[in-house]
Amino acid sequence: MRGEHVFLIGFMGSGKNSVGVLLGPALSLPFIDLDELIVSAEGRSITSIFAAEGEGHFRQIEARLLDQVLDSPPAVVSLGGGTFLPLENRRSIQERGVCVWLKVSLEEALERCRSEPGRPLARDVANFSKLYERRQPVYGRCDVHIETDRKTPENICREIVLRLEEKENALD
Ligand code: S3P
Repeated sequence: MRGEHVFLIGFMGSGKNSVGVLLGPALSLPFIDLDELIVSAEGRSITSIFAAEGEGHFRQIEARLLDQVLDSPPAVVSLGGGTFLPLENRRSIQERGVCVWLKVSLEEALERCRSEPGRPLARDVANFSKLYERRQPVYGRCDVHIETDRKTPENICREIVLRLEEKENALD
């Protein structure tokens, strides 16, 4: 959307980064991966932040870097799976751009996360499933909902561009 950020929101394994790297150029916007920003600002992996200081500390760093991103020029921003959950984060995210929920089934999220290590919250399947169920209604507050199961990042990207164009035309 003109002059605004486009946020990619969704559970771990929903494809936010694979889609974001394509969506940035498709919308002529830079792409920012919030997790990546945290890793480079801290000089260590998310797993080591969780292990050394716990999730609470990770959430503080995440909120601080989110604020930096919100104040930067418009971009496609891929958020971590938990960034949209705290009310304060959610309010400022919704004020600063359009929120796109990449919906993924629990089965597909599990499958995708199994092959990619580095997510401390994906280690325990029971906890992963509980988090998944608890977060769905919150993700549901996004402006645009996109089903991602069995779709390629290219197709998802095209679908988002079309949906954003429709949204923009509806405003004209
Ligand atoms: C988290 C998701 C991760 C990362 C951290 C916590 C979550 O990002 O921010 O491990 O709470 O769902 P991805 O959604 O990009 O995997």
